[in-house]
Parts: sequence; C-alpha cells; structure tokens
Amino acid sequence: AKRVRIHHLQEMKDRGEPWPMLTAYDMYTAALFDDAGIPVLLVGDSASNNVYGYDTSLPVTVDELIPLVRAVTRSTRRALVVADLPFGSYQVSPAQALETAVRFMKEGRAHAVKLEGGAHFAPHVEALTAAGVPVMGHIGFTPQSEHNLGGYRVQGRGSAGDTLVADALALQEAGAFSVVMEMVPGEVAKRITHELTVPTIGIGAGPDCDAQVLVWQDMAGLRTGKAPRFVKRYADMAGVLTGAVQQFAAEVRGREFPGPEHTFH
Ligand code: KIV
Ligand code: NA
Repeated sequence: AKRVRIHHLQEMKDRGEPWPMLTAYDMYTAALFDDAGIPVLLVGDSASNNVYGYDTSLPVTVDELIPLVRAVTRSTRRALVVADLPFGSYQVSPAQALETAVRFMKEGRAHAVKLEGGAHFAPHVEALTAAGVPVMGHIGFTPQSEHNLGGYRVQGRGSAGDTLVADALALQEAGAFSVVMEMVPGEVAKRITHELTVPTIGIGAGPDCDAQVLVWQDMAGLRTGKAPRFVKRYADMAGVLTGAVQQFAAEVRGREFPGPEHTFH
C-alpha cells in the first residue's frame, strides 16, 4: 500500500471528494483504521483526556505523546500520520516549534504536525514548512486556549467570522497544507472552504468542509456520557466491552471459564 501524501489530500479537494480523518493513539486502532481506508490519522493532544486520564488537553507532554505517535506510524502502511503539538511545546517561538516538530518527526516518525492558532502563528508554520515539516493548522475553538476562550464555545459567530477567514488565509499563506476548523458556524466554515485552496477539515464545522475529523473514542461510543453536539456515535464500544468483561467475570466466578478446550494437558 502506498503512503498517502499531502498532495493526495489536495487532489481530493480539487476533485470535490470529501475525506475522513480519525484520531488514533495505539497499535490496534491505527491498524484497523488504516485497513478501513482512513487516509489521515491524527495522534491528537486529545490523548491527554482520552488516553492519559487528564481532565483537559493541557497537561499532556511531548514525552508522553511521542511513544503514541511511534506506535501509530509503526502500525500503519498507508495513512498519513499527523502528530499534534501539545500546549507549551510551540507557542514560545518559531524556533521552539521547529525543535518540537523535529522530535515528532525523528522520534515519532510522524509525517506531519498540527498546531493550534491563527495569524499569530503564521511565523511558526512558516519556519516548520521551510524546514520540510508539513503543517496542519487548527482554528476556531482551540482546546489548548480553553481558559482564554471561556470554555467550549462556538467561535467565529458574527463579526468574528471575518477574523477566522483572515486566520485561515494567513495559515495557508504561511504554508499550511490543511486547516482544521473546530466548532465554527457552518456558514463560516463553508466560506473558508471556498476561499482556501488547501483542504479544510471540520469538527463541529458543518457539512461543507473538505474533510471531517472525529476523536475515535467519541465516534465509536467508547466514551459515554454527554457528548458535544458535533459527535455522532457509530457504535457502542463501551457497551460491547462492558458486556464482554461482565461475561468473563461471571464465567470465572461460576467456574465456567476456562473450559476443557482452553486447558493444556
Ligand atoms: O486532539 C485532537 O483530537 C484534535 C482533533 C479533534 C482535531 O485536535
Ligand atoms: Na488537538
């Protein structure tokens, strides 16, 4: 299987073919999603609250994420693997961003990186792109800034829509190969998707983006409880796993497992 390249994603936009993207953080999910034909896998800093058990995406570190990136790249043959730069690992300067990105590329064997922020981060995107690192932008609701944005809120309503368009254009101008838009009004996302030549990737940004991304534990129903409006649950992984675990426990307690067929003589 040939590795997906950034030009393939551009070609899909140019053909008007929407493409799916998912997060992945380990071997089995990465291999399954790769085999299912998902062209782009993101090792998100969402590992913070979906793998490491932190309450937000802020605490997770580069050292915690790199082994996950390495596991995902090792386990895929086709998908383009994007490593998310975590909070504090790139905001200081373009030089810091490049040092962090290099670690994700060398140690994690990532094929691209993603960072959050608009026009202010154009110099960071430019430094990475110039050094040979493909960059995916991320605007709208950016979870690393939740304390500044006042919690999980839709961004770009009203006149803020123009700022968002300017941010997207600045990232593209700086060399970003794609831009994630999170929790943005569908109308604004549609406008940005038309104005940008590079692909847009929506999460809570309506149906008109060039691609759609979801956190896999959300879309597969491993995470239970109240989900954001933009999540669609395609399976009940929590129910399936709970059923399996309960049956195993009951069979051990009832001396039904292991049976003769599981026993060596
Ligand atoms: O960390 C993450 O999972 C993300 C996606 C939701 C875009 O940034
Ligand atoms: Na993220």
